[in-house]
Amino acid sequence: MEQVLTITQLNAKGEGISLDAAGHTILTPFTLPGEVVRGEVSLPLTHEAARADLLEVLTASSERQPAPCPYFGTCGGCQLQHMTPDFYVRFKKDQVIDSLRQQGVEAFVEDPVVLPPHLRRRINFKAQKVKGKVLLGYHQRRTHKVLDIHECPLLKPELSTLMTPLREVLLSILSPQEEVNLFLTLAENGIDMVLDFKQGKTLTLEMNQRLVEFGQKHRIIRMGMGEDLLFQREEPYVKFAGHMVKIPPNPFLQTSQEAEALLVKYVVENLTKPSKRIADLFCGLGTFSVPLADHGAVDAYESNKKSIHYLNYSQAKNPSPHKLQGIQRDLFVYPLTPQELNTYDVVVLDPPRAGAPAQVKNLVASQMRHVIMVSCNAQSFARDARILGKGGFMPGPIHLVDQFLWTPHMEMVASFRRPSP
Ligand SMILES: C[S@@+](CC[C@H](N)C(=O)[O-])C[C@H]1O[C@@H](n2cnc3c(N)ncnc32)[C@H](O)[C@@H]1O
Repeated sequence: MEQVLTITQLNAKGEGISLDAAGHTILTPFTLPGEVVRGEVSLPLTHEAARADLLEVLTASSERQPAPCPYFGTCGGCQLQHMTPDFYVRFKKDQVIDSLRQQGVEAFVEDPVVLPPHLRRRINFKAQKVKGKVLLGYHQRRTHKVLDIHECPLLKPELSTLMTPLREVLLSILSPQEEVNLFLTLAENGIDMVLDFKQGKTLTLEMNQRLVEFGQKHRIIRMGMGEDLLFQREEPYVKFAGHMVKIPPNPFLQTSQEAEALLVKYVVENLTKPSKRIADLFCGLGTFSVPLADHGAVDAYESNKKSIHYLNYSQAKNPSPHKLQGIQRDLFVYPLTPQELNTYDVVVLDPPRAGAPAQVKNLVASQMRHVIMVSCNAQSFARDARILGKGGFMPGPIHLVDQFLWTPHMEMVASFRRPSP
């Protein structure tokens, strides 16, 4: 049903909120406060809110700008390209401030460092063969259909330029309707690529050969299919603070080298020096552990077996100045106990989006005085900051790194200290 909607404010996802005549909430993406728009209202999302598709902006906000990407609105990737840069920064900073306020956490939130486009070094493309053509790109907004795109302003050029050749090689590999997920990571020495076929796949010798040739031509130094290795010409590696670390297929890395450098800077700057013993929890491949091991001995904990294997393997080849050991452990099930925590001078914590309440509770129960928390989720960050606050930990300034350009997400780093009893 078509309706004229007046947007009063945005929710945390950046969707415009309006009320209809009966007082029901309607959420309209790609709108701004103060705008009057025409929307196609669909059935209620929840008992509290319905959703509308934006049909036309009748009265535009002065904070509206033309989207930099031709696929904006159709592609499921970016939601906030219609905001002017000033409005965008304020909106994203306010989300963090609001989350902290909701949890009763008082902290100084710095202005975000907004990183420019064309920096992203990891991407997951979707591809499907439809009517004799390969569609390649991302999921279309709110569907699982592949949106065929030919450019993406987020990506490093080394990854964007692969779109056309990928379509070409996949044309002879995909069967009609077949879908594949492609995970590409730009390492220092080339590209790591993993193909994940939705329905499983057996490659013929010819297909295999085509992929090998494609790899040779386009700097793909390692290619895998699911868990299997198709070829490896070199071991892909990245550098953390100048130290070489080999990476597993489709690794977790911060989105760009530039974002990673900023996050590492904030973590290391906040370190009390000297810190003899450091724990890095949810360490991944050692984004923070490796730079931290320039300053003290590091125990790096992580549940992913491959990450720990590659971290320890890289350390064996290129040891850090101080001892760094990767330890596989599920920190949700077995968070470090207060007794274990007491053996460290500082704990760095970078949990997944859900946060780490169990671990944070043990930090409060320990005698630790200093925690540095990194997070990509303002809600779980604020909740965990509240738990720390109740235990006497006071946050320093919260650094914001906008590494998820044009999305509502933000990366945060903050140091929490508590006085000696
Ligand atoms: C946001 S990433 C951070 C990784 C790393 N600190 C970095 O910056 O590259 C979160 C990490 O937590 C790990 N993880 C997820 N669940 C976990 C759990 N239950 N126990 C330990 N680690 C977990 C993931 O494998 C991932 O490496």
